[in-house]
Amino acid sequence: MRRTYIAGNWKMNKTATEGVELANELKAAVAGCNAKVLVAPPFTTIPAVKEVLAGSNILVGAQNMSDNESGAHTGEISPAMLKDLGVDVVILGHSERRAIYGENDAFINRKVKLALSYGFEVILCIGETLEERESGKAEAVCLTQLVGGLEGVAKEDMANIVIAYEPVWAIGTGKTATPEDADSIHAFIRKEVEKLFDKQAADDVIIQYGGSVKPDNVKDLMAKENIDGALVGGASLKSELFVPIVTFDK
Ligand code: 13P
Repeated sequence: MRRTYIAGNWKMNKTATEGVELANELKAAVAGCNAKVLVAPPFTTIPAVKEVLAGSNILVGAQNMSDNESGAHTGEISPAMLKDLGVDVVILGHSERRAIYGENDAFINRKVKLALSYGFEVILCIGETLEERESGKAEAVCLTQLVGGLEGVAKEDMANIVIAYEPVWAIGTGKTATPEDADSIHAFIRKEVEKLFDKQAADDVIIQYGGSVKPDNVKDLMAKENIDGALVGGASLKSELFVPIVTFDK
């Protein structure tokens, strides 16, 4: 049985002061909810949010991580730095990292393996652009990103891998994939995980949907067999939007 997993990617929003305010609101409002819950604040906001959420049911993640352990990498954040803050999860391969900062599958794969070696749970993001979808390449693009991101990952490590399917055309646009379209790609991803590993890994892997998830569409998305959770951007920045998403089943 896969547990619903709702994650909030704050992207480059919320100073530490603002993050504390939001974390305090969430802490009280989602206590005792059924879903596994994560927030991923910007690096500099993590310590303050972590302090607020200590002892709560909300995990704290990072939005990125270096592919190196230490040294001359100006501006980067190492796995040990995140571990030291008590970070549990790292989001890797987000489409904004791919599109704006030129991250490719080989680079993301190095980070995935490094993060796993430090015991992080990894949310690996994959998804096609509108052009790719319209030219019938959605599955092929997702497959390339899935296989590239998971290259060399051991079957046992799949327990610490979450896949987030985020069609680029649905991110921040207000255009959500229909539950049917999203479920169809999720089913495809699950089948490919089975081919890469085995049936158990495929049955167990959590596949989140991301792209304009809101309180009014979360229920229909989560009702689909292969949609196990959500990676929420814009709507994770306000408790009045994120709380109803996390508690959609109440
Ligand atoms: P939005 O929910 O703002 O579309 O963002 C989705 C996303 O990119 C989460 O990682």
